[in-house]
Amino acid sequence: MVKVSAPGKIHLIGEHAVVYGEPAILAAVGKRLFVEAEKHDAVKYVDLRWETDSKEWAVEDVLESTDRVLELWSHGTQTKDFSPLFNHIKADRYAGYRKAVVGIVMKKLGIKGGVKLAINCEFPTSAGLGSSSALSVAVVTAISELYEKQLSLSQINELSYDLEKIIHGTPSGGDNTASCYGGLIWFQKSSPQNVMMPLKEEISSMPEGFVLVNTREEKSSTGELIQKVRLLEESYRAPRIKEISKLVYEMKVALKSKKYDLMKDIINRDQQLLKELEVSTDEIDSIAEAVRKIGGAAKLCGAGGGGIMLCWHKDKDLLKRTISQLGYEPWETQLGVEGVRIEK
Ligand code: MEV
Repeated sequence: MVKVSAPGKIHLIGEHAVVYGEPAILAAVGKRLFVEAEKHDAVKYVDLRWETDSKEWAVEDVLESTDRVLELWSHGTQTKDFSPLFNHIKADRYAGYRKAVVGIVMKKLGIKGGVKLAINCEFPTSAGLGSSSALSVAVVTAISELYEKQLSLSQINELSYDLEKIIHGTPSGGDNTASCYGGLIWFQKSSPQNVMMPLKEEISSMPEGFVLVNTREEKSSTGELIQKVRLLEESYRAPRIKEISKLVYEMKVALKSKKYDLMKDIINRDQQLLKELEVSTDEIDSIAEAVRKIGGAAKLCGAGGGGIMLCWHKDKDLLKRTISQLGYEPWETQLGVEGVRIEK
């Protein structure tokens, strides 16, 4: 049996713009997703976040179903409409997605046998913390370890990106990269290969005072939110994406030179731009406003539409009190933790 874990992630800045080839800064967070894998003659899958009983499919069924998912993904890239793919993978409690997650890895690595997978996670799903990317990275690592494929981190990341595409349509690849390599990273989608730079040398320390908040709203999926932004008029979307990009470069300088007042203004401006891209919610806006009023900064994280927010104030206790008074639970976690690893 192999046990693997991969961390969740937050975007310090650059979500959505990163889908259009602009850079983003991401950090792996101190909560992890776990995958246990064993060899098996069929494909057995249980996600303990949702259920206690497993589903089991024959290997041929998994491979056929994977072909169908890949066809729908190709159709989505041609038509720029991934709704048929999203509807397909959601059906029957995500059976199409689950089969394809395993099927793509088996096909790409030339694995003929089956696998038994059990998934568990320390952080909430659909909250902007990258649970699907942590799942992709951990499943690829677990199955490749089990079948002794000896993949490099870069190969794991590349294959995880293929899994991310079937659930998000056209993701940037930033989420899986942060979960795979860990730490604080600079990421840019690029061809033929995405760019990843660890920021450990340039940004030796992060300020104190970051707190996460989960608005726990019922939200659309990342793929649907990416599609929503893509459907905005290009003349409206493009200048906002460009401005977010400019803020990402400014953020790196602010963090490097420890200019935290500047960092604060950048975060607040970024939130305003994400709101204009229509991925914020009333709850996020009111939390952001309350944090700004006490002299701090707050923004949504990841695709938006509810879920995790990143808040900062130089007086962390005041920030936590403010968040609690609004009726939310402030959540402190480490930023920049280790990426994917085999658990002993
Ligand atoms: C999702 O966590 C972040 C987005 O920028 C999508 C992506 O990078 O693939 C919205």
